Amino acid sequence: MQKKMIYFDNAATSKPKPAEVLQAMQHYFENIGTSPGRSGYNLAITAGRIIMESRERIAELLGVPDPLEIVLTKNVTESLNIATWGLLEPGDAVITTAMEHNSVIRPLREREARGEISLSVVPCSPWGELDLTAMERAITPQTKAIFVQHASNVTGGIMPLEEIGAIAQRHDCLLVVDGAQSAGALPLNLANSAVDIFAFTGHKSLLGPQGTGGFYVKKDVAKQMKRFLCGGTGSRSEFETHPEFLPDKFEAGTPNTIGFAGLNAALKFLKNEGVTNIRAKEEELTAFFLTGLKSIGGIKIYGPADAKKVLPAVSFTIEGISPAEAAETLEEEFGIMTRVGLQCAPLAHRTIGTFPTGTIRFSFGYFNTQEEVQTGLLALKKITNSNR
Ligand code: ALA
Repeated sequence: MQKKMIYFDNAATSKPKPAEVLQAMQHYFENIGTSPGRSGYNLAITAGRIIMESRERIAELLGVPDPLEIVLTKNVTESLNIATWGLLEPGDAVITTAMEHNSVIRPLREREARGEISLSVVPCSPWGELDLTAMERAITPQTKAIFVQHASNVTGGIMPLEEIGAIAQRHDCLLVVDGAQSAGALPLNLANSAVDIFAFTGHKSLLGPQGTGGFYVKKDVAKQMKRFLCGGTGSRSEFETHPEFLPDKFEAGTPNTIGFAGLNAALKFLKNEGVTNIRAKEEELTAFFLTGLKSIGGIKIYGPADAKKVLPAVSFTIEGISPAEAAETLEEEFGIMTRVGLQCAPLAHRTIGTFPTGTIRFSFGYFNTQEEVQTGLLALKKITNSNR
């Protein structure tokens, strides 16, 4: 009999997707399949509507009244690159944290290496908690922006975004947020917040397909930014120069319409289920896992280890067995898929003291069950016992 597989790698990408996502993608390919916003025939208009609806649904989910402030890209990395290259001028200083993912730190380090910006990395505790006083102290007259994750992909730890926003406003700095892990996982209301740019991806907690993402950008901030890509937009085609208005300023080329057809269906699903309900279920699974994990000897948990303070991702190590070996046993003997190692966040692992071997990360999603989490705990108990 084939072993039942259990997927605990939702922080990397959510799986499964709602059935409606696949249906919408199939429907697009079979019945639409045209380029959006480029031609006047009905099917092209239908494709354009898919893109427009995705934008509107994302705006609603993020709590933004104007959908034109939502730029669509292929993932959060592209969005953060547009922000890093578009916003920062030579001579600017930037502040970030010691818990960032490579999608934040690498573009910033690239600009720093070219001698264009100076970068200050604010320390975090070994539990990944940000030192807000140190952040405020790091600000200089040259500081243009604070780049910060909303939640860690390693520990799940949620950053104090309101407090960071207050610091940014007190010092007239822009606030750029990496929302890779939080969009769709936490209720958001960005319109009245200090957040100037919020980058997201479609394939994690938004439950859509890979190759979809974007960012929210305040109109006046977008005006200050240089664009990253130029090309066809289907608008102002009589000009050889790229349009200045949103969202076209940052979008060029034919988009991933089939992907956005899927994301659009996923956003409909999220609205029907309610992000608050999704958060409650994921918090419950995480609390159940953390309680069980704390009772197993030989396990060290990293991060706040409190379901209320984390997204559904828990990083840990097992005494005497490497994360890579543990993952192999979890998959081969118990059919459990996890992500181990550095999870593309070496800086965060240096902070929590797990560099270079990293951790074992269990990350849950809306479709996981308590029974699956219980199976995960039993597997970990067996692995730790057999290791003694
Ligand atoms: N950054 C993603 C993860 O945490 C891919 O696994």
